[in-house]
Amino acid sequence: MYRTHTCGELRSSHIGENVTLSGWVQRVRKLGGMTFVDLRDRFGITQLVFNEETNEELCHSANKLGREFVIQAKGEVNERSSKNDELPTGDIEIIVSELSVLNSSKTPPFTIEDKTDGGDDLRMKYRYLDLRRSPVRKNLELRHQVTMEVRKYLDNLGFLEVETPMLIGSTPEGARDFVVPSRMNPGEFYALPQSPQTLKQLLMVSGFDRYFQIVKCFRDEDLRADRQPEFTQIDCEMSFVDQEDILSLFEGMTRHLFKEIRNVELAEFPRMTWADAMKYYGSDKPDTRFDMRFVELMDILQGHGFKVFDEAAYVGGICVKGAAIYTRRQLDELTNYVRTPQVGAKGMVYARVQPDGNVKSSVDKFYEQETLQQMKEALSAQPGDLILILSGDDVMKTRKQLSALRLEVAKQLGLRDKSKFSCLWVVDFPLFEWDEEENRFVAVHHPFTSPKKEDIPLLETDPGKVRANAYDMVINGVEVGGGSIRIHDSELQNQMFKHLGFTEEKAAEQFGFLMKAFTYGAPPHGGIAYGLDRWVSLFAELDSIRDCIAFPKNTSGRDAMMDAPAAIDQKQLDELHLKVTEIKVPKE
Ligand code: AMO
Repeated sequence: MYRTHTCGELRSSHIGENVTLSGWVQRVRKLGGMTFVDLRDRFGITQLVFNEETNEELCHSANKLGREFVIQAKGEVNERSSKNDELPTGDIEIIVSELSVLNSSKTPPFTIEDKTDGGDDLRMKYRYLDLRRSPVRKNLELRHQVTMEVRKYLDNLGFLEVETPMLIGSTPEGARDFVVPSRMNPGEFYALPQSPQTLKQLLMVSGFDRYFQIVKCFRDEDLRADRQPEFTQIDCEMSFVDQEDILSLFEGMTRHLFKEIRNVELAEFPRMTWADAMKYYGSDKPDTRFDMRFVELMDILQGHGFKVFDEAAYVGGICVKGAAIYTRRQLDELTNYVRTPQVGAKGMVYARVQPDGNVKSSVDKFYEQETLQQMKEALSAQPGDLILILSGDDVMKTRKQLSALRLEVAKQLGLRDKSKFSCLWVVDFPLFEWDEEENRFVAVHHPFTSPKKEDIPLLETDPGKVRANAYDMVINGVEVGGGSIRIHDSELQNQMFKHLGFTEEKAAEQFGFLMKAFTYGAPPHGGIAYGLDRWVSLFAELDSIRDCIAFPKNTSGRDAMMDAPAAIDQKQLDELHLKVTEIKVPKE
């Protein structure tokens, strides 16, 4: 028997018992004639004690143990003279009587402790060692807990978990596909699913009624802190439902998860239309942990001879509570921030509300105090507040710039507190958006999303104005999930394809199977998919979803540990009927 207990299990109630433990050597400390070894496994750390006076030979062996050696120790549980409050096992230690080395270890490339000296790249290269560290392991334990709770919750409500294939045809979700060449079908490729969207809709046609799947999805897009090329969705679909049914069921699930995982009771989720989200926050995923809503200032600030504002299509401001203390240098830094290419504004105007209520702005020479007072009123600014204003000739672009400024200031003021949660539904997304590059409308969500009934006549006259039965769940400025009520009528679906610029042949080629299925009695249906990685990282208060994925890709989309992607040999290329122009030699 390798062990009687785990390294996280023993307490003072075990004092006097003879036990066997197995695990990894985290640390060896020599103190006079005593040697202390911290023995670690997934469950915790237990202190082993070796006494030179009572057993010299054994103590010698202990002194020779290296970091990360795998050992087995037998001994008696003893009460510690100096207890360690920080460890659950901190009241006891094991007086070791027998020690076996089960495996030795090379010195690890970084220290395997909560605080490590290993940089990001090194830890990714040796991810299996990084996973021994408890902060990383805890994130995966939390992930497990979330998926277990989701499965229980949905199972209770009659959802069936159904697996859908990974080798499929292309599913349009707006990103590029990862493709897999087919050996048996020369020149043809599978695509890895960007989501199981069409398949879950087919399951509704099959009468499954309530489906879910915790499923890998693949999207060949640029990486960000909340994006990975392969990520996991909690994918759900239901029949005979309207938008209200979906929002209420999944709000219930979210509330349940917050209670179970974080012991947080959430209030009812507010709903915000997409149009309002853009108008007041400049983003379709507003961070509502703090206020700072946009106020449009065209009426007040235009027509006073300040050319920048007079010529702008949009002038908008935010009121930053208590931030009049920002120094000139801090304001210059904010101006530099909005001028960075990733934000793209030309400049920033600021105004401080002074203790006497007067407003002092960076453009005072153009404005009377009376106008500045009107602006103060519009923003409900008080003495001590700071007003920040951006303007531009493209309304949406300027709103997005103001959104970036709002988030940056909030970060500086510590308003983006990760332990606070602010959830909402963003609803009434537009059905289409204009794609400048392709010079055509593209679907905001995906081509299977239904238009609002009352907007259907606009499809022919003003497609850009049609609203969709689509919704996103947003938590702390992160889009954690999104879905829609689908089109279940093949006629309307064909009309959608037409608006999206598909010829009849192209639509038939790509989606003929779905169109055909819809002619055999498709029920009204809709659904939602959550980004599991994003959700877990919110629960765990992480900066990046990478930290809750066992083996993530790095920022260049590579697996640093396996060194993938990699070249393959000529024989494999030939079998796949592939010719590559850039020959790379495969690794041995
Ligand atoms: P959507 O494309 O909005 O919808 O994706 C659903 C959710 O998946 C998460 N997500 C990602 N997470 C990590 N890395 C990525 N690259 C990534 N891309 C998306 C987000 C997002 O909200 N089939 C539809 C759902 C439906 O209509 O039911 C879909 O995939 O949290």
